[in-house]
Amino acid sequence: MSISAENLVWSVGKTNIVNGVTLAAQPGKVLGLLGPNGSGKSSLLRLLSGLRRPASGRVLLEGRNIQSIGRRALARRMALVEQHATTEANVRVRDVVSLGRIPHRSPFSGWTVQDQAAVDAALDRVGMLDRTDRYWHSLSGGERQRVHLARALAQAPRELLLDEPTNHLDIQHQMALLKLVGELSLTTIVALHDINHAAMFCDQLMVLDGGKLVAQGGPEEVLSEALMREVFCVEARIESSPHHGRPHIHYLV
Ligand SMILES: Nc1ncnc2c1ncn2[C@@H]1O[C@H](COP(=O)(O)OP(=O)(O)O)[C@@H](O)[C@H]1O
Ligand SMILES: [Mg+2]
Repeated sequence: MSISAENLVWSVGKTNIVNGVTLAAQPGKVLGLLGPNGSGKSSLLRLLSGLRRPASGRVLLEGRNIQSIGRRALARRMALVEQHATTEANVRVRDVVSLGRIPHRSPFSGWTVQDQAAVDAALDRVGMLDRTDRYWHSLSGGERQRVHLARALAQAPRELLLDEPTNHLDIQHQMALLKLVGELSLTTIVALHDINHAAMFCDQLMVLDGGKLVAQGGPEEVLSEALMREVFCVEARIESSPHHGRPHIHYLV
């Protein structure tokens, strides 16, 4: 087991934003996190990353409470790409990706060949190796998103948490990014907006509604017309796609 969580609660005032979530991500697989806007996806990912402390419940990494793992040690194995990740405008692509190496470096060692190799490999993976000298402010939204993913990959994590990583991408780059994420063989938890994309690329899905986990399992088990109606408030028909064999949702008007 890699990341798991037991009965996680996170509240603001008297409202439970994440309300008793228990989950277990399968090692090396992609777990898709779905739910309407405001259902608690980003809040849950922050709890799982250790960035936020739960009011109750716990997050476990290989069975160990992440509260007992130091920040640096945690950052050496787990990376989070936030939904609204920002970066100073006046830095170059390579500087942003180099940040991923910080948890691996000691105060005494300089920049090593291994650090450089990790940065180059990460940039290559996201198709940005030819733009390492570009300034952040000159990048498109999609390029920025790919650079943030490269920063996370340079961290050489075993667990990768991604919050709506395809938001600013055109369809070609959405497909490429999701395919890449599937090929990484990292334990990945990814919040996604597009349910059809989640069904195509994720091994398992979880659905949040009002901070509660209302469904989890394989895409075929989780996605149903009743769930689309009750959780997402849309009428839909679901068929098994003749092209990729996964469920495909047709939205009705
Ligand atoms: N720091 C915060 N303070 C107050 N409310 C918050 C905070 N973070 C999130 N919320 C609220 O919690 C709910 C869930 O937010 P979020 O986790 O961002 O959902 P999602 O990512 O599914 O859209 C929303 O209603 C949001 O307004
Ligand atoms: Mg969010």
